[in-house]
Order: sequence, then C-alpha cells, then structure tokens
Amino acid sequence: MLKDKINTDNIPKHLAIIMDGNGRWAKQKGFIRTLGHESGSKSVKKIIQECLDLGVEYLTLYAFSTENWNRPKLEVDTLMRVLINSLKKELKTMQEGNIKMNAIGNLEKLPSKAQKQLFEVLDKTKDNTKMTLTLALSYGSREELVNVVKIISDKVKNNIISIDSIDDSIINEHLYTHNLPDVDLLIRTSGEHRISNFLLWQIAYAELYFTDVLWPDFKEQDLHEAIISYQKRERRFGKTSEQIK
Ligand code: IPE
Ligand code: IPE
Ligand code: MG
Repeated sequence: MLKDKINTDNIPKHLAIIMDGNGRWAKQKGFIRTLGHESGSKSVKKIIQECLDLGVEYLTLYAFSTENWNRPKLEVDTLMRVLINSLKKELKTMQEGNIKMNAIGNLEKLPSKAQKQLFEVLDKTKDNTKMTLTLALSYGSREELVNVVKIISDKVKNNIISIDSIDDSIINEHLYTHNLPDVDLLIRTSGEHRISNFLLWQIAYAELYFTDVLWPDFKEQDLHEAIISYQKRERRFGKTSEQIK
C-alpha cells in the first residue's frame, strides 16, 4: 500500500491545496459544471479525514477566489449553496475530529447566509486542537497584500510603528494567515501549472506538486503520492546540500 511508504516523521505541517477541475470533470461526464462542484465537496470530506489521519496540522483549501466572483451568477450561487450545505453537514465531523475551522479572504463579500453558517462553525470549533482547517473564501493574495500595505502604512502614519521596524514578521502578523505557519506543500489538481493568486507570500519556500487528476477524482492515494513526492525532495532554503545533511 502506498500509505505504508509515507514517513510519518516528515509529514508536511502545512498542506495547501488548489482544488481545481470540477467543471471539466462534470463536462467530461456530460453533466453541467455545477454538478462538478457537488462532487468536489465529497473529495473535500475525504481529504480532510485523510489529512487528520496522517497528522497534517494545518490544511488550507482554496475554495473560492476573488476572481471567481466573475463567473456566471448561476455558478456562483451553486458554489455558495455547496459551501453552506457542506458547512452544515460537516460541523459534526469537525467536532468529532477535533478540527478547528479557520477562514481567510474577504468574508464580508459572501452572501449573509454563507457568512452566518461559516461564523457558526468558526465559533463552535474554536477550541479544537488537532488540525486547523482553513478555507480560502473570496480569497485573493494580491488583495490580502494590498490590505497589509494599507494597515501598516496607517500604523506608520500614526507613529504606532516605525518604517525601520518593518520586516518579514511584521508583514506576516498582518496577513489573514497570521496564525498559520508557512506552507510546506502546495498541491494543484487538474493539470494547470499556475498559482492563481493563492498565498503568494506564504508559498515562498513551499514545495509545489501538480497532478493531472481532476479534483472530484482526487482520492486518498493521490494525496499519498503527493506526500511521498514531497518526502523525496531536499528542502535547502538557499543553503547547499552539504550544509543541511
Ligand atoms: C475548481 O474547479 C472550483 C473553483 C474554482 C471554485 P473549476 O470550477 O475551476 O473547474 P474547471 O477548472 O473549470 O474544470
Ligand atoms: C483557482 O481555480 C481557484 C480555486 C480553486 C478556488 P480557478 O479555476 O479559478 O483558476 P484559473 O482561473 O483557472 O486560474
Ligand atoms: Mg478551474
């Protein structure tokens, strides 16, 4: 079994996934695109469980980008409905798995029903400790960074911090992800080799893994393959291979 090949001492602490290919999956089967999103939500459930089992501490899922608001209204509505239903259904799973839910993005743009459901799950799971599951919703990395610049500029203007004190950690503290470590492994499904405005700052030293598998087809074994690939890599962070041995 592939899972047996995983080194349990070297599990990525923070795994991020760009869950892509729902629309193409549906189209290939002759369904409408929106059915792909329903099916994709089943993969989400499976992968959360498996990450929990493997001991991933932080799992971050790209569920809806700032750019995705430009999709046809029917599709945006479906995505929001799938989100609301999943949040409703999975609260029990979160509690049983001791999973703390977190959300990043411009959450105020979400329809009020989605916000309500989301904030309920955030609140009810806030004391859970085994894994932090972050949903990126109405998330765009550039928007996040623009916000950081605005907040820090305001603090400088009001003499709360000095320009000289601005460093990596000050920027980190002002990101939506301030309570998360850097990403160790970033997976993108569906054969696209791009980042699509996801966690640009936070993936500075992440290992990237691309697979042709479409998100609704992404199974536990696909996750195992990605982690095994990650474990074969040498993360040098600018140093030489000799230095880290
Ligand atoms: C990912 O699947 C889900 C979201 C972006 C919300 P897509 O809907 O992008 O599927 P493709 O890429 O069109 O196949
Ligand atoms: C990225 O997928 C966003 C999510 C997975 C939520 P897209 O399908 O929107 O990305 P592009 O537009 O193909 O780059
Ligand atoms: Mg896509």
